Amino acid sequence: MYNFDEIIDRQNSKGSYSSKWAKEGFALACFGEDEIPNDRIALHVADMDFRCAPAIKKAIEEVTKHGIYGYSMPNKDYYDAINNWYLNRYGLDISDYKIYHSHGTHKAIEEAVSRVSNVGDNIMVLLPSYSYHRDIDGIGRKLLGVKMLNNNGNYSIDFIEFEEACKVSKAFVLCNPHNPSGKIFSDEDLIKMAYICRFYHVVIISDEVHGDIVRSDKCFKPLVKVVGPRGIITCNGINKTFNLAGLASTYFIIKEEKLNKLYDGYFSSASPFEIAATIAAYNESASWVDELNQYLDIEIKEVVEFIHTNMDKAIVKEPEGTYILWIDFSKYGFSDDELHNIIYKEARVIAQSGSHFDDNDQFQRFCIASPKKVVMEAFGRIAACLNNRK
Ligand SMILES: Cc1ncc(COP(=O)(O)O)c(C=O)c1O
Repeated sequence: MYNFDEIIDRQNSKGSYSSKWAKEGFALACFGEDEIPNDRIALHVADMDFRCAPAIKKAIEEVTKHGIYGYSMPNKDYYDAINNWYLNRYGLDISDYKIYHSHGTHKAIEEAVSRVSNVGDNIMVLLPSYSYHRDIDGIGRKLLGVKMLNNNGNYSIDFIEFEEACKVSKAFVLCNPHNPSGKIFSDEDLIKMAYICRFYHVVIISDEVHGDIVRSDKCFKPLVKVVGPRGIITCNGINKTFNLAGLASTYFIIKEEKLNKLYDGYFSSASPFEIAATIAAYNESASWVDELNQYLDIEIKEVVEFIHTNMDKAIVKEPEGTYILWIDFSKYGFSDDELHNIIYKEARVIAQSGSHFDDNDQFQRFCIASPKKVVMEAFGRIAACLNNRK
């Protein structure tokens, strides 16, 4: 019913303002030269090149028609929509949680870190990690990375290291589904992590923004559903699921009274566009998410198969959640600069290098929520350039 194969111009079309397809800013920083070629394929940013669900577009158009875009606030419909999504999607009743609006997940995490810790405190993350630096170091705390064990692309938690880090930390930012590995943590892992964190009074800030993008044979559960709400702040939003990152609209939920008290006086004004989009997304756009997941299931399978067949030294796994491929090129034996040249300059594909996530540029992260033809072209080019060098 929805056409995820349509190639939509985000580079030159009026009203796009896409940062991913711009020739400056973050794209240029990732690409690393003065000028980005016109025919590059941008896969470095975690947004999608798919048009959002029709009901969301319509709801935003309604707001546009109104003509007054003054101060606005989330209403009952907004909160009901979030409640219903949790109930229908995850079988979790959050009617007795407090829901707080936020302008993006980074903002929500920064707010949480600032409330549960003091300047100089350690805040844990699992490495490799999506970059939470500005939410942690940016406000005077110290990011404490706990390296996950990597067995040929299969990541697992080193619980001995995890516990050691808990002893000296105030909070743990958990990313589940995990960016960049695409792993969905098992119930057993979640229970262990929560048990250790609770023992050492470490608050868990659970970033679950990728929780709706899941392979059909996998299952994502909110952390609070598995371990209960004590000591947990859950961040979620419409940004990733519905490709609405430009609206910067997210929220976080808390049940525990003690944590809620830390938010006394918290205020975040929402734009009318965000409010309308959230209601239309959660109330009317579930079928769009279902079809998106079906499309990504097929696309991911084909791309990973292509990589296994044509880039025999690259290590990659199908992600259980997210639309992210985390590829280890180290077996090729290229230097970091050579690898960068091959992928970025020769193949003209923009990815994000591993040092954004840990310390190893032999890993590259590709966000592949684009029409299959575009993504296959990108990996076709990379394979050809790699194989030319062998
Ligand atoms: C795991 C994760 N958390 C947070 C963010 C940023 O979210 P936001 O744009 O809502 O601040 C991203 C964006 O890629 C992400 O992947």
